[in-house]
Parts: sequence; C-alpha cells; structure tokens
Amino acid sequence: MAAQQPTLLEGIRNTVTADLAAVDSTVRRELTSDVLLVNQVSDYIIGAGGKRLRPLLVLLAARAAGLAPLGAQVPGAVVIEFIHTATLLHDDVVDGSHQRRGRDTANEVWGNAASVLVGDFLYSRAFQLMVRLKNLRVMEIMADATNVIAEGEVLQLMNANDPETTEARYLDVIYRKTARLFESGAQIAAVLAGADARVERALADYGRHLGNAFQLVDDSLDYRGNPAERGKNVGDDLSEGKPTLPVIYALKHGSPAQRALLRSAIEEGGLSELGAVVQAIESAGGLEYTARLAQGEVDQALAALEPVPDTVHTEALRQLAGFAISRSY
Ligand code: IPE
Ligand code: IPE
Ligand code: MG
Ligand code: MG
Repeated sequence: MAAQQPTLLEGIRNTVTADLAAVDSTVRRELTSDVLLVNQVSDYIIGAGGKRLRPLLVLLAARAAGLAPLGAQVPGAVVIEFIHTATLLHDDVVDGSHQRRGRDTANEVWGNAASVLVGDFLYSRAFQLMVRLKNLRVMEIMADATNVIAEGEVLQLMNANDPETTEARYLDVIYRKTARLFESGAQIAAVLAGADARVERALADYGRHLGNAFQLVDDSLDYRGNPAERGKNVGDDLSEGKPTLPVIYALKHGSPAQRALLRSAIEEGGLSELGAVVQAIESAGGLEYTARLAQGEVDQALAALEPVPDTVHTEALRQLAGFAISRSY
C-alpha cells in the first residue's frame, strides 16, 4: 500500500501541474525578509517541503468550480500554506515536539522564541498576500477561520491530561484546529472562482469532512505510524497527555485494567507506557473505531461533491479524499 501512495498523490498533482509550480515560485518570492533569522527559519521549515495538501486542495477546488489555471487561486493557495506553516511553528512549541517534516523542529534548532516570532511573520505575510486579492469575502472567511483555529489549539490545551475528555469535545477540537483550514481553503477557492452559493457550500463541506478525516487518520498514525515515513515522531500525543480518539474510545470500552492504565497515562503524560498503551488501544478497538469515523468523514466528503460539475478536477478531489484515508505519512 505504502508504495502506491506517492503514485496516487502524483496523479492528483498532475491535474494542476502549472498551478503547483506557480505556488512554489510564489512561496519562494513571498518568503523574503531583510531580517536574517526570519529568512533562515522560514526557509528551513518551508524548504523541508511537507505534503502541500492544503494548497493542492485550493487549486483543485478552484478548477472544479470553473476557474482557469494560474488565476487568483495561486496566491490563495499560498495564503493557506503560510497559515498552515505558521500554525505548525507555534504548534511544535506548544506540543514540545522534536521532529517535523523529517528534520529537527525549528524550536529544537533555534528555540521557542524564534519559532513563535517567525510563526507570527508567516501569519502576517499570509494576510498581506490576502489583502492583495482585494476580496472582502475571502478576508472575512480567513479572518474567521484563523480565529477558530486559535480557539481549537486553546481548547485542546484545556483537554490535556484530562481522561474525562469526551468524544464530542475531541471532535470539536479537530474541527477547529485542522478541518476549519481545509474548509476555508476550499471555500475561498469557490469564492475566487465566482461559483454559485450551492457549489461554494458543497466545496466548503467537502473540505471540512476531508479535514476531519485527515486529523482522525493523523491521530491513529501517532500510535501506529512509521516515524521515518511520517517525518515526525510517534507517541507525541501520549507524551503530552493529549486525549485523542483512539485513547478516548479505549478509555470507554477497554477492560478495567486497560482503563486504569490509560487513565494514568493521560494524566501523567510521558512515553514510559507507550508499548502497553498501544496494546490497550488496539485490543479495545480504538484504532479500528477511529478508522471507521475517518471513513465516515470521507464518505460525507464524497457525497458533498454532488453539486460540483464532474470534471477531471472533481475526480482529483475524490482521489484526494482516498489519499487522506489510506495515507501512511
Ligand atoms: C500536520 O499537517 C498538522 C496536522 C493537521 C495533523 P500535514 O501532515 O499536512 O503537514 P505537512 O504540511 O505535510 O508537513
Ligand atoms: C495540528 O496539530 C493542528 C495545528 C497545527 C493547528 P497536531 O499537534 O495534532 O499535529 P502534529 O502531530 O503536531 O502535526
Ligand atoms: Mg503537534
Ligand atoms: Mg498540537
């Protein structure tokens, strides 16, 4: 399976080759600052690549909504990737993470202060770029989205080390911290394409469900993924005492001994019990349940596309939903 994934993603990317190249050169052009450390840190994290799924989503959604290539979707996609990268710089500080995109995190190399400040630089550069689009609806969608993302990260902080965190609270967090950016990316693509309200709603709904599926899968991979392939460590969530769905489910459905183990692992954080925790989650069906919910989100993402005209780009959006669920990185 793993060997097929780059092929699947490549096939999707091939439908927007020119747009992706333009995104790349815009990213490079817009990263510059005359402050050396800003350049160093932003080059370091952006140069590490990443999957660039969110800009891909923006480009595909724009084409599916009828926009010609190389239009306003290119800066739109860069805005979304810069916001995403800014949140990663901040998130790795908050989570105390050591690995990102196959490298030491920026906080590991330059420290927390530099990561937070360069994250702010990328955030505000995204808004500079966005203002140049001169589209008030796009600005409104993104101002609301970034506010909700910040709330999501804070809500998650409030759930840390709390084994009573419910599935509903978890789902609220993943919508806010992750799915909202996918949703708003697909929606601004539709707005930039001048799509009608029905198509705009359809693409936003598709993005939201895709983003939910993406984070559900990410939270499974944190227990069963391969660090080399993912470019970040496994066990990060447990180490921070972060109650994600695999644990929340096992806390409810495991044996009394498993529940006691998971409860103290979440309360204490740390990785000393990682092996036993993974076993408890597996045997209580936590990963299976998380995969089932992710599949449900993908099904809803696919259903949401119904009002969107059936083109090669709409087909690529369907394939992207398949990638989000089958991915191992
Ligand atoms: C990481 O996102 C943050 C989550 C929402 C899980 P990605 O897995 O898309 O990160 P990159 O951009 O490919 O590094
Ligand atoms: C991803 O958070 C969401 C944001 C960065 C806003 P996570 O903490 O779950 O993602 P990883 O595991 O660090 O990539
Ligand atoms: Mg993190
Ligand atoms: Mg986090």
